[in-house]
Amino acid sequence: MDPKHNRKPFVGGNLKMNGSRAMLKEIIDRLNPLKFDDYVEVAIAPPSIFLDLAHRSVRKGVNVAAQNAFNCTKGAYTGEVSPEQLKDLGIDWVILGHSERREIFKESDELVASKVGHALKSNMKVIACIGEKLEERESEKTEEVVIRQLQAIAVKVDDWKNVVIAYEPVWAIGTGKVATPQQAQDVHLIIRDWLAKNISEKIAQDTRIIYGGSVKGTNSQELAKQLDVDGFLVGGASLTEDFIKIIECFIPSEN
Ligand code: PGA
Repeated sequence: MDPKHNRKPFVGGNLKMNGSRAMLKEIIDRLNPLKFDDYVEVAIAPPSIFLDLAHRSVRKGVNVAAQNAFNCTKGAYTGEVSPEQLKDLGIDWVILGHSERREIFKESDELVASKVGHALKSNMKVIACIGEKLEERESEKTEEVVIRQLQAIAVKVDDWKNVVIAYEPVWAIGTGKVATPQQAQDVHLIIRDWLAKNISEKIAQDTRIIYGGSVKGTNSQELAKQLDVDGFLVGGASLTEDFIKIIECFIPSEN
């Protein structure tokens, strides 16, 4: 049997702090007509000010994700947004632990983990990001770093069905320097093996592990063929028509 049979591919588009209402409309106008629902789950993550507009503009079957959420329900946390507020808007998904949050906004493993825990308790689905920096890869610390980040998150997860793990090597994000299919596969397998040993074999087989970092229409096919690559988190290319090509690599060609 196809070892990927349990796992529906997942493609997320992380718009980061880019775009305008007009640009978002263009992105959604490209996505809405695409018939991908039987083959791949898709989410777009616009800046928070556009979440409501995105939610109202997408067709059923296109998910909208926030790029961040805090670890409290409400209160004096200027500038933050809670999972409960996102749910109130109808937003079901959130990206947490993105390397830009970890690096620029100094989010620790513990803070990321507590955000994951709170979002899951609020019935949100989480795209949890992990990944090593260039110097960590060069000093052969990739496994140590990725597992440390994963372990912190895992402590807070009761129900893995609401979690997608995004492996995003920091050196590949926004650099045009994509991981080779083998490099991605190697780390995805390390993550899956860890889940099998520390959580359960079933959860390891069912949990989607997606790759992020300079994914484009030209490299997505080869990456998607890897046994443990279950989709992508796409930054720059999610702003362009290339995003459709990336989704299409999971749709059988006769469609
Ligand atoms: P990129 O970003 O595709 O522009 O490299 C990926 C990400 O940050 O999720």
